[in-house]
Amino acid sequence: MGFEGKVALITGGARGIGRAIADELAAGSATLAIVDVLKDVAEATAADFRSRGVTAEAFVANVANLADVERLFDEVIARFGKVDILVNNAGITRDNLIMRMKEEEWDAVIAVNLKGTFNCIKAASRPMLKARAGRIVNIASVVGVMGNAGQANYSASKAGVIGLTKTAAKELASRGITVNAVAPGYIQTDMTGKLTDAAREAFLTVIPLARAGTPADVARAVRFLCSDDAAYITGQVLHVDGGMVM
Ligand code: NAI
Repeated sequence: MGFEGKVALITGGARGIGRAIADELAAGSATLAIVDVLKDVAEATAADFRSRGVTAEAFVANVANLADVERLFDEVIARFGKVDILVNNAGITRDNLIMRMKEEEWDAVIAVNLKGTFNCIKAASRPMLKARAGRIVNIASVVGVMGNAGQANYSASKAGVIGLTKTAAKELASRGITVNAVAPGYIQTDMTGKLTDAAREAFLTVIPLARAGTPADVARAVRFLCSDDAAYITGQVLHVDGGMVM
């Protein structure tokens, strides 16, 4: 699983699943661009990687803002020369029942999860098309396939990410770029730490493997899709959910 000489840009890479993905890619010797809105956390994460001999730098950007994303790609390319791997992992939740959901809650989640993924694919496509190579992995969710009460905004954003993945895969395939999605189930992170005990127990009853996933479970699937072993796989959604969706 060698990523020697490859530059990987991971959005939301400061913590949680994004950080675990950075770990997996670094284990294969990738150079890391850790992108996040949390400046201090991103810098601490990048410093931790550097202390372990990994070439890593933190970049602060809001993926929901196209101008910011274009500046980000300019900065990463100025620093590392290219982007070989893009992992669209940044995501947020603003849960509420449809009846109570505020316009800002809908807009914020669509802006980060869906438009943010589009913005980064758009910015990455030019250098990847020129290089005639590239790997893009988008982090979707089981909820984008199954729906989930209280998550109209989030499930719509993740279903959108799946549609976007397939379209980008078709548009970019002729130049050797693959675009896939990973759909995690219930994974133990800060995001799910906000769930009530009842919601957590409800999740466990519908997971055949009867445990929550770890960020590393997701990261290993992402590493595979970024590797040469996945060269003939594009436009797919790989579920990492303990069997929740079959
Ligand atoms: P997390 O909240 O721990 O990490 C998300 C990271 O994204 C944070 O570092 C955050 O600062 C960053 N971020 C948020 N908005 C951003 C923006 N506008 N621009 C740049 N960075 C931004 O969440 P977690 O659990 O690690 O989730 C990562 C991805 O996995 C998300 O896309 C989430 O929707 C998805 N996912 C998580 C599941 C879970 O059970 N934890 C299940 C299914 C999908």
